[in-house]
Amino acid sequence: MWTTVRISNNTVLITGGATGIGFALAEKFTSLGNKVVICGRRENKLSEAKAKLPGIEAIRCNIANSGDREMLYDRISAEFPETNLLVNNAGIQRRIDFTKGMEDLLNNEDEIDINLKAQVHLSALFVPFLMKKESAAIINVSSGLGFVPLSMFPVYSATKAALHSFSISLRHQLRNTRVKVFEIVPPTVHDTELKGNPIEKADWSLSAKEVADATLNGIESDSYEIGIGASSAWLSASKDERDKIFSSINH
Ligand SMILES: NC(=O)c1ccc[n+]([C@@H]2O[C@H](COP(=O)([O-])OP(=O)(O)OC[C@H]3O[C@@H](n4cnc5c(N)ncnc54)[C@H](OP(=O)(O)O)[C@@H]3O)[C@@H](O)[C@H]2O)c1
Repeated sequence: MWTTVRISNNTVLITGGATGIGFALAEKFTSLGNKVVICGRRENKLSEAKAKLPGIEAIRCNIANSGDREMLYDRISAEFPETNLLVNNAGIQRRIDFTKGMEDLLNNEDEIDINLKAQVHLSALFVPFLMKKESAAIINVSSGLGFVPLSMFPVYSATKAALHSFSISLRHQLRNTRVKVFEIVPPTVHDTELKGNPIEKADWSLSAKEVADATLNGIESDSYEIGIGASSAWLSASKDERDKIFSSINH
């Protein structure tokens, strides 16, 4: 039943595709001859992305809202019915200090809604639609921090660990369908907006373009858990090794 997902002639929906890794993926997919649809909340960022990549389509959408997620599915299935790849890329990252009780937790957006609930809901909306395609895939963008948490980002790290677990179960449930489930595990990426970036380039950090290149290589080679850069070792580390990494990154 499963055939390798082709890397051209697809129609790809990329959530959060106007900036950072999502935009680098949009560029890469476009350069390979795919139709790309992006979504995000900021109209100006969607317009900038469209100006840089003529031919892409953009849908304004806040994936934190279930109504917006349903609208996104309705518009994609009506306007771009040939869509066969869903990239669950949109995400946010927050510093939360639990010694402050509720103060930090409630003063901003909910990472669980944006980084986990949305991916789960979009999967439920899109799986039956994707199952009708000749070849299809869901590509979830998790993080090395899903394997070794950074305690200053406690909820972020937890959502990425949960997205890893969800991707394993979804992949298994869909094993007899044509829908493949990939997980992209980037390390620190220095040229995105996630942390109010660009952050300073470090030895272990990569560019969004490097992540996009590795993603397409992984898809082409049927690698379902795509560890990239430093995250490759984190992905396959033993409990002892992960404990050591945890101590080295949490001071
Ligand atoms: N940068 C890193 O070091 C790193 C490392 C590992 C994994 N990742 C993951 O990579 C993914 C992309 O992040 P990035 O680093 O490329 O950061 P980014 O440049 O901030 O990209 C995130 C994108 O998601 C969109 N977005 C956020 N909340 C949204 C919402 N509620 N509804 C719709 N769109 C939303 C943002 O656009 P709007 O604000 O306009 O909506 C933005 O375009 C995330 O899942 C992140 O966790 C990043």
